[in-house]
Amino acid sequence: MSLEPFRSSDDYAAAYKASVENPELFWADISSHLKWQKPWDKVLQWDFTKPDINWFVGGKLNITENCLDRHLESRGDHTALIWEANEPKEKAKKYTYRQLHAEVCKFANVLKKNGIVKGDRVCLYMPMIPELAIATLACARIGAIHSVVFAGFSAQSVADRINDSNCKMVVTSDGLNRGAKQMSLKKLVDEALEQTTSVEKVIVFNHLDWDPEMKSGRDLWWHKEMADVSFWCPAEEMDSEDPLFILYTSGSTGKPKGVVHTCGGYSVYAEYSFKNVFQVQKDDIYWCTADIGWITGHTYLLYAPLMSGITTLMFEGVPTYPDAGRFWSVIDKHRVTLFYTAPTAIRALMACGLDHVLSYNLHTLRVLGTVGEPINEEAWHWYNMHVGKERCPIVDTWWQTETGGIMISAIAGLTPSKPSHAGLPLPGIQPVLLNGEGKEIEANNEEGYLAIKFPWPSMIRTTWGDHERCRLTYFSTYKNYYFTGDGAKRDENGLYRIIGRVDDVINVSGHRFGTAEIENAINQNKGVIESAVVGYPHDIKGQGIYAFVICDKLPENQEHVREEIYETVSSQIGRIAKPDKIQFVSGLPKTRSGKIMRRILRKVAEGEISALGDTSTLLDPTVVEEIIAGKL
Ligand code: WT7
Repeated sequence: MSLEPFRSSDDYAAAYKASVENPELFWADISSHLKWQKPWDKVLQWDFTKPDINWFVGGKLNITENCLDRHLESRGDHTALIWEANEPKEKAKKYTYRQLHAEVCKFANVLKKNGIVKGDRVCLYMPMIPELAIATLACARIGAIHSVVFAGFSAQSVADRINDSNCKMVVTSDGLNRGAKQMSLKKLVDEALEQTTSVEKVIVFNHLDWDPEMKSGRDLWWHKEMADVSFWCPAEEMDSEDPLFILYTSGSTGKPKGVVHTCGGYSVYAEYSFKNVFQVQKDDIYWCTADIGWITGHTYLLYAPLMSGITTLMFEGVPTYPDAGRFWSVIDKHRVTLFYTAPTAIRALMACGLDHVLSYNLHTLRVLGTVGEPINEEAWHWYNMHVGKERCPIVDTWWQTETGGIMISAIAGLTPSKPSHAGLPLPGIQPVLLNGEGKEIEANNEEGYLAIKFPWPSMIRTTWGDHERCRLTYFSTYKNYYFTGDGAKRDENGLYRIIGRVDDVINVSGHRFGTAEIENAINQNKGVIESAVVGYPHDIKGQGIYAFVICDKLPENQEHVREEIYETVSSQIGRIAKPDKIQFVSGLPKTRSGKIMRRILRKVAEGEISALGDTSTLLDPTVVEEIIAGKL
């Protein structure tokens, strides 16, 4: 039943060629390795202009049968999940496939018992504990649409997301551990629910023994609910195009949008891309350090490794607790073979010196991966030399929440891995570079806007509740292409190097924020009249957040107002979106039509003052001088 990854560069080339020449035949073959409840009638029907994208039309399946049930017979006693706690002293928890299957079925029954049916939305706002994995899979088991909200987001963000998709239930915990700190979650849920009306039940996992207030009739304890349910629950029959989950992500305008992924194509592509990129072997112990609250956690911590039948490791803590050797100690402790992390984590650990990493053996490692942002050459070499000991191929995987799975990446050990280059597209993926007029750039050694010209199974289908927004954001900039929002360059050998976003989105430590979203939060602060936010290069985070703020009068105590702004941003979005620098200004560079010229602010924030370009079209060029003089 298993799908064997290709094992040579020729296999890759042949697969790529086949996938472009006859995509339907290609994906028909790949999809046949999954367990379908009913075979599909047609592989693909599509129209990018609407967009209307249908993969494996008429097919029925349940992703949890592919993650769990299909392994029970052959490897039911194999470890599916290892959980490493925040505290190194705490014993790791392990679940075999059989145990995980039972827990998922039990929680699926809890969902059902509390009125959740196929198609209902369930918000999961939880720490990185096994129960988050179990709750996510339990939703999929019964066809409820999960919307996982990263536990670093604020009560306001949770409320917005619950309201956008009318979630009927929230699953949370009393609190969470984050290194030396602990934080409440249930309290934030209570706050969020003051602004919502759709939520009927809240299930609370007791993680820290905190004894939070429980609202009678609404709030239920996880352990009590789990006490008397059956450990068998049939897998709901899901259409290929039924939604599997919603995941909110920021764009250049407005509130975060709910990216919708569907059951069939997502399952097929998650498993295929994972097995090939990481060259998975059946006894691999794989660790993806991403939180399940992001797409990387969905696809490559949870679904793909379980579909592949290997062991996936989940870590509650942070890379620097109790010290900067924690990642390496966990790798040795659990004999991790495949390791997938973010460049920002590598840079942060790099800054802590070599002693930590050199005190561990790391000899079980076979493949290293990165994701989320461009990796600079220095970090790439450090990772290669000190973590991989120059014997582990590095895969720099480019993809997005919207793409569902890895699009451009080296295939570990088979296709070229060049520092700061994602590499070649995966089979089935047809990237193009477009020029300013939307024409395809054929030549190599050129730079352009990165777009995709043919559908792939795990692509975004819609944005929840607002299909037009999906069309406008991704399918209208260039007709008949999916537009990524990234700029890229193709080298002389056709390897792609991702340059970064070309829209008003900034990527902070691999997390995406719209500048407008942060500005809206800053503007809610008393005394703030207007603000403009741009990204600037940051040694550890990749991009830092630089805010230019106009107040009604220049604050006497700037530190005080800065603190207030941090507070507002933390409560509106979450502490992860706090600006790194706040400069108070008396005006912003605007065109005569009133549009803020971000290009100029970006240059100032980057410190490239000599390259400001033409400022003659500005309404008031003198504000630029003031801004330069006050640069932080
Ligand atoms: C944006 C997507 C997909 C996982 C996590 C981020 C940037 C992602 C890379 C990479 C250069 C990268 C892009 C992309 N990005 N991976 N390997 N090299 N840039 O998901 O929050 O949806 O962000 O992250 O700019 O558009 P996301």
